[in-house]
Amino acid sequence: MTTAIYPGSFDPITYGHLDVIERAAKVFDRLIIGVLNNYSKKGLFSVEERLEMIKEVTFQYPNVEIMAFDGLLIDFTDKVGAQVIVRGIRAVSDFEYELMMAQTNKRLKDNVETVFFATSAEYSYVSSSTVRELAYFGGEIDQFVPPSVRQRILEKY
Ligand code: PNS
Repeated sequence: MTTAIYPGSFDPITYGHLDVIERAAKVFDRLIIGVLNNYSKKGLFSVEERLEMIKEVTFQYPNVEIMAFDGLLIDFTDKVGAQVIVRGIRAVSDFEYELMMAQTNKRLKDNVETVFFATSAEYSYVSSSTVRELAYFGGEIDQFVPPSVRQRILEKY
């Protein structure tokens, strides 16, 4: 059985993330969405809120679980017995950072592989930070996030 972790900040989850989740859930037996609890970086949403929002939009995938983690991602893979880290690549600009992370994690633990999913073209420009900025300035975000997430963002601003 292959367990994969899809880690990220998910502040908030977008259709771009959901595209990767839906596809990775078909490829791996068990997919854990790992939400980074970054104490030094205060996001728009608390980690609890992010977990709730992700639960609301991924309940239809029976092999998807959602967990928060802190510290090193590679230690989290150990804790949950994951063999694979999943990351989405939207554009060439993502690649350098992603390659650095993949190679660092491989150095730290040789038997964990990073697998990249090329984000579907229609979501290649979607990011959580763009969504937050659009919403902050009153822009429409319904193309980028599910309705339940949109509602929570509107409540914040
Ligand atoms: O959604 P993001 O912010 O691009 O996700 C980045 C994330 C959470 C995958 C990355 O920052 C991470 O793995 N953080 C945990 C700390 C860690 O393991 N750092 C070393 C990675 S080389």
